[in-house]
Amino acid sequence: MISKDTINRIFETARIEEVVGEFVSLKKRGVNLLGRCPFHNEKTPSFTVSPAKGIYKCFGCGKAGNSVNFIMEHEHYTYPEALRYLAKKYNIEVDEDFNKTEDIENENAKESLYIISSFAAKYFHENLLNNDEGKAIGLTYFRERGFTDATIQKFQLGYSLTEWGSFTDEALKNGYKIEFLEKTGLTIVNESKKQYDRFRGRVMFPIHNLSGRVIGFGGRIIKTDPKSPKYVNSPQSDIYNKSTILYGAYQAKKAIINLNTCYLVEGYTDVISLHQSGVENVVASSGTSLTIEQIRLIGRYSKNITVLYDADPAGIKASLRGIDLILEEGLNVKVVLFPEGEDPDSYSKKVSATELKEYLTKNAVDFILFKTNLLLEDTKGDPVAKATLIKDIIATIAKIPDPIIRSTYIKECSSLMEVSETVLIAELNKLRRKVKDKEDYDSSIVREDEKPHVPQPQVITHSSEPQEKDIIRLLINYGAMELVLMNPDFQNDDVDIEIAKEEYLRISVAQFIADEINNNKDFLRFENQLYEIILEEFNTNLSENIIPNEQYFLQHVNPDIAQLTADLVTLPYELSENWKTQHKIDVVTEDMLMMEAVISAINNLKMKKVVALIDEKFKRLNDVHTEEERNTLLEEVMQLINLKTVISEALGIVVVR
Ligand code: CTP
Ligand code: MN
Repeated sequence: MISKDTINRIFETARIEEVVGEFVSLKKRGVNLLGRCPFHNEKTPSFTVSPAKGIYKCFGCGKAGNSVNFIMEHEHYTYPEALRYLAKKYNIEVDEDFNKTEDIENENAKESLYIISSFAAKYFHENLLNNDEGKAIGLTYFRERGFTDATIQKFQLGYSLTEWGSFTDEALKNGYKIEFLEKTGLTIVNESKKQYDRFRGRVMFPIHNLSGRVIGFGGRIIKTDPKSPKYVNSPQSDIYNKSTILYGAYQAKKAIINLNTCYLVEGYTDVISLHQSGVENVVASSGTSLTIEQIRLIGRYSKNITVLYDADPAGIKASLRGIDLILEEGLNVKVVLFPEGEDPDSYSKKVSATELKEYLTKNAVDFILFKTNLLLEDTKGDPVAKATLIKDIIATIAKIPDPIIRSTYIKECSSLMEVSETVLIAELNKLRRKVKDKEDYDSSIVREDEKPHVPQPQVITHSSEPQEKDIIRLLINYGAMELVLMNPDFQNDDVDIEIAKEEYLRISVAQFIADEINNNKDFLRFENQLYEIILEEFNTNLSENIIPNEQYFLQHVNPDIAQLTADLVTLPYELSENWKTQHKIDVVTEDMLMMEAVISAINNLKMKKVVALIDEKFKRLNDVHTEEERNTLLEEVMQLINLKTVISEALGIVVVR
């Protein structure tokens, strides 16, 4: 367990804008910051970060929370994982009362996989620098490829010894469990239960997730051997999913945001060599075609991707399809072609850093124009081939979500292919209709509420959850606000002099609500466990004259409470002052109408409960046997109906009897 002190320190230190800023590019908007939501795909930013409140909230998908919630949600971390992540980021020492073996036992499985991967990366790195075999084979290899010490350090490069179990033995000796070693794929256990290392006699490239933790490895063979693959990679595991991560993304993300472009290359060594030449905004797809998740990962940092190709026409043509996917995600794609026989790695070794950067900027061409030119070469004098080309290019253009960009491409391609714009537009519209039909079809599946109305059997639920939520919202947002009430005992001789003296009573919103609910404890019991906990915390604190505020709940040790609070605290878009004066609008805020809001929230809950009770008693009428029982029950029902009328009147609802 992480100590309460440490958790408090983490909450005090973590700045939401810094935590989120690592993953989302944020722009200042009034007192808040705004960016594109990392949890759903959106074009206009609606992801708001409030440094003052220490929370984020997306007005598109509704996700909200504090720094810890963000890391949990974004990195798929558990609560302790997220705390450790933040502690590391802010150099906060984590107090724990575990010893190491116990620690390994108690940590959940995923955390164990991270710990083992990090241990392995250190072990391989050590081998490379200090082991005789590692130095003679691994280090020599990297040196021959021109990698500097700083580069080897930055990418945590390593070496796996040729012996069958050197890593596995070392890990077991250090208390790591075979179960988890096998789950990371670092150790293979065969049918006869023999344990051996997956990586042997290879130079090692650790793969990091976006927060810099090692999640997997690629191991490259030293000498070409037709019997073994050039690269051996970690298998998929609970922490490594190769289709959602890009090699180098952790090391590149800052540069991608700053330069607002991301270079995409094929391999580990391309990424590393470009870094060494000062080009840091680069990631690798590791030899496979890009997935949607990977494209979205880049898209969070920048909308501009430049694909770096070596000049192998077959390879380029094979990858064209994948690039349509990038366009479909609304990103802009450029292409840089390297000279014959060069790839990003070899070329960066041939020229100076300045020359390389210049080459990359000067030779970046728009993808669609590149594709058009490339395919045009094959169609010379062949009208059928040309018709196919036109269809192909238009299909690509049709993928672009933005209509203005589409029409610009139509113009350019029309002159490149020497085909009239009208013909191209007709073809485009045909395809767009198909896309649109598909979109409509998709949305008809997702959006139940927009389907044409079909009579459905009515399910009456008596859940008071929404009413409870509203009360919690008022408690957290306005608990300390003061309500001024008429004193019903003013100048009443029968009561205490002190009480009778005051014409008005002052009471906090929190106390008022707590009293109301406590006075009707059984009747108004909350169904929702989390709300119940929050209410109880109010009761405990109020008995000590403390009114917990939104900060208290936003930094709550229970992450579910923090997340709920972030969702409930009001964080509207900033209204511009301009707008207010222009329209001469006095915004009526909720706190002006506080009294009314509190009372109707409580009455709404009462109403819900009364209706549920009446319903329940009516049902019981079917089961009673004696006349007496029946009369008592009817009497109770009548009382409840009267109560319902009283509440309805207070709520301003007309009840038809
Ligand atoms: N790759 C792989 N398995 C292979 C070959 C390639 O996983 N058998 C992946 C690796 O991620 C590799 C990328 O595809 O980095 C590109 O392959 P390649 O260009 O052959 O490797 P490089 O990384 O460029 O290595 P080198 O420069 O040493 O040839
Ligand atoms: Mn290469």
